[in-house]
Amino acid sequence: MSAELWNSAARVLEINWQDDHMVPSRRLYPHQWSWDAAFIAVGLAYVNPARAWRDLRSLFEAQWPDGRVPHIVFDPATAEADYFPGPAFWSVPPYANRPSHGSTGIVQPPLHAVAAWEVYRRASAHGAACVQQAYGELEWLYPRLVAQQDYLTTRRDLGEGGLAALVHPWESGLDNSPAWDAALAGVPADLSLLTTFRRRDLDVADAAHRPTDRDYARYVGLVLSYRAEQYSDTALLRRHAFAVECPSFNAILGAAELALAQIAAVLGRAAEADAHRERAQRITGAIVKRLWNPETRTFHVRDLHTGTLSPARCVSGLLPLMLPDLPAAQVDGVLAEARSPRFGLPDETGLPVPSYDRTAPDFDTRRYWRGPVWINVNWLLRRGLLTHGRLDEAKDLRAAMVRLVHRNGHFEYFHPKNGEGLGAPTFSWTAALALDLLADRSVPAYAKAG
Ligand code: GLC
Repeated sequence: MSAELWNSAARVLEINWQDDHMVPSRRLYPHQWSWDAAFIAVGLAYVNPARAWRDLRSLFEAQWPDGRVPHIVFDPATAEADYFPGPAFWSVPPYANRPSHGSTGIVQPPLHAVAAWEVYRRASAHGAACVQQAYGELEWLYPRLVAQQDYLTTRRDLGEGGLAALVHPWESGLDNSPAWDAALAGVPADLSLLTTFRRRDLDVADAAHRPTDRDYARYVGLVLSYRAEQYSDTALLRRHAFAVECPSFNAILGAAELALAQIAAVLGRAAEADAHRERAQRITGAIVKRLWNPETRTFHVRDLHTGTLSPARCVSGLLPLMLPDLPAAQVDGVLAEARSPRFGLPDETGLPVPSYDRTAPDFDTRRYWRGPVWINVNWLLRRGLLTHGRLDEAKDLRAAMVRLVHRNGHFEYFHPKNGEGLGAPTFSWTAALALDLLADRSVPAYAKAG
């Protein structure tokens, strides 16, 4: 089984490569996406490390002067009409990025330091020249990764509590999650925007899987609001209707600091490595302080406008488990949540965890991020289980993911009751992470500090 799955995964990464970057899928997502590039690099590290580095470089070449890494870098070869919202809609300031390539003005989870470290770690399997290239790529990327973290931890600390705030649901990567419902209720839904700007996702995907028109109108309105001041973050909380702190985004922010500590050490920057570890500890502390609900004993999204935690119990609430310094009470709470019928951490024959609480009345088996199973968040959860020494559960979750993808294909997401493949059928991060799971060497290389 594993050779067949390995070959099919490698094939997906072959067909989705476009000049100097990987597309998530040819039809639905014909540009480069930020956090996709991180997951993809983890898989390319086994079959084509040069492309892993090329893909990360293409993304970081579009980094803005303020450090933000855009959530999409647009391929100039793809016509505006083939994707909405495309470069004309985002209309980013011309200084902002690779002049030949447009980009969006929002971000996605900063998983790239983790990815860069993973690609570097595997370079020795490909020989000395590959190690040398990897070292050079780390040198190039390191200051850019630091600038990305600085942007998120300073300009985006809208709540002034030590976490990065998201100003659009798309920044989370969990675009349509119920985690945003409470905060989105305060955002006007101007349906006329969908006449001015026509959705294209419904031309290529089933409407039952996609966000509703009301939510889509809010998404468009939020971009227009941020765009109006050329994506400036100054006094953004006052000007902008949506500002939240997300547990998974911030867990990845913390994990990135730990990966940067590893990278800094390799580059001979010991003092910086210590500073990164301290930053990771501070982020972990802020997540516990601001996003933990002692009653539900799991993590929730904080709405900065109301100062309240969202009641929704989403897979994002489990991902702070990635942080090695998470205190025991929180580790126990999150593990209990993951094992409960809400998420049902599988035995090896079960299905990986869904994106949303299975017992919630609005659990939706097909609408994306509102129920279906995604390989990328399960892969992150598995890292969390490994980080906290839950080796048996990590082993079962790995087996469940491999089995699902082997049986049903490299789909974008999967039906949470019968495993049917949904969304794009040849999806890059599913294939990339299948390679990593087959190789099974993704034990996080950092230990608990102190
Ligand atoms: C969807 C997902 C997002 C991903 C993008 C490209 O918008 O919600 O996480 O980055 O597709 O694959």
